[in-house]
Amino acid sequence: MRNFMLISAFAVAFMFACKEEGKPAETPPAAPAKPMPPPPPPPTAKAEPIIGEFTLMSFTGGPTIDALVKAGGKISNDLVDLGRMLYYETRLSKAHDVSCNTCHGLANYGVDGKTLSTGHRGQLGTRNSPTVYNASMQFVQFWDGRAKDVEEQALGPITNPVEMAMPVDGKRVVATLESIPEYADAFKKLFPNDAKPVSMENVGKAIGAFERRLITPAPFHKFIAGDTKALTEEEQRGLEAFHQVGCTSCHTGAGVGGTQYQKLGAVKAWPELHDKGLGDITKKAEDDYKFKVPTLLNVAKTAPYGHDGKMETLEEAVKMMAEYQLGKTVSDAEVKSIVVFLNTLTGEIPTDFIKEPSLPKSTAKTPKPDKKK
Ligand code: HEC
Ligand code: HEC
Repeated sequence: MRNFMLISAFAVAFMFACKEEGKPAETPPAAPAKPMPPPPPPPTAKAEPIIGEFTLMSFTGGPTIDALVKAGGKISNDLVDLGRMLYYETRLSKAHDVSCNTCHGLANYGVDGKTLSTGHRGQLGTRNSPTVYNASMQFVQFWDGRAKDVEEQALGPITNPVEMAMPVDGKRVVATLESIPEYADAFKKLFPNDAKPVSMENVGKAIGAFERRLITPAPFHKFIAGDTKALTEEEQRGLEAFHQVGCTSCHTGAGVGGTQYQKLGAVKAWPELHDKGLGDITKKAEDDYKFKVPTLLNVAKTAPYGHDGKMETLEEAVKMMAEYQLGKTVSDAEVKSIVVFLNTLTGEIPTDFIKEPSLPKSTAKTPKPDKKK
């Protein structure tokens, strides 16, 4: 609206200027002036910006999604290929029946869709499995942040007794991979300077490399990069509501989360909260009930929600966040609007990139599956 008025004022001033300077024409008189174009339609509410001046700043502090994709692209393809094999490798589990993909199904937006995950011998864990897509961009890994990056994180589940259940010393993992010549050769080639190329550390590096390529740009990212048509008006209203309600005080950056810890129940005690989160790791009372603010990319595809998977739907999660993290009661219309926005965070599954590779055969030396506890 303001722009239109400015332009009109300019045009009028310009017309006057012309008249003043216009000398009696020596050239033949100009053709009679064309009829004035019809006046522009009266401006509607559409012309008012939906997105507030500061809204987008919540998401532009850290690296952009494009920068993250680029960084992933620079990692050695051979290392990424080995990481993909290990990601699907059930022989990294004690009974040869669980892989990373069991709980983080790549064709299923990186989750298992269960409240809590089941691992070795069907044992239940205590937390919900977060998605592996875009996990690498978060400032720490796990709900409680106990691993600093995806390379370190990848070693956790392999030796977790309720997940893949391999012995913690890592010897069985190394013996398994060394017994299969294709793996032994791949590690040797990728880590030529290591005295022992097949090591837990290098397993983590390979899986981490693969995960750093699991970045999924979404329509939202195009919008914050300046493509104003990437979101519909309704979606933009949802984004603005997300900001106005206060969600962006915690869910920030290109990942819309993954940049900080916050207390669960920041304003009002979170119901039935037994897990102390970060407090159990640091043993400091001030860290009790703090959790990593998770990325919300692909959140519409990763139900159920929260560290304990107790929030079943996105609507429920939005309401609880507003109430307990912000002390606000949101109307059903606001919830609906925010959910419309959250759907713009869904990217595309990189179908070719995640295809399960054919895995090399075991040899006589490969440790046999062990179904025992
Ligand atoms: C038995 C199910 C299970 C298996 C197998 C499993 N995970 Fe997980 N994963 C989980 C659960 C549950 C969590 C959350 C645990 C926590 O925060 O304490 C998690 C957390 C993660 C995270 C952290 C994501 C974030 O947002 O913080 C990453 C990354 C990850 N897993 C990758 C892997 C990789 C790589 C493998 C294979 C080496 C693997 N997982 C195997 C269940 C599993
Ligand atoms: C004070 C910080 C804070 C604010 C404000 C906040 N959140 Fe969260 N959010 C968190 C934390 C911490 C978690 C992790 C919850 C857990 O560990 O169970 C989370 C989890 C979520 C989840 C679940 C994600 C998943 O993958 O399971 C959604 C959805 C969500 N928030 C949306 C919102 C929305 C929408 C708003 C605004 C109404 C909001 N949040 C405001 C801190 C916050």
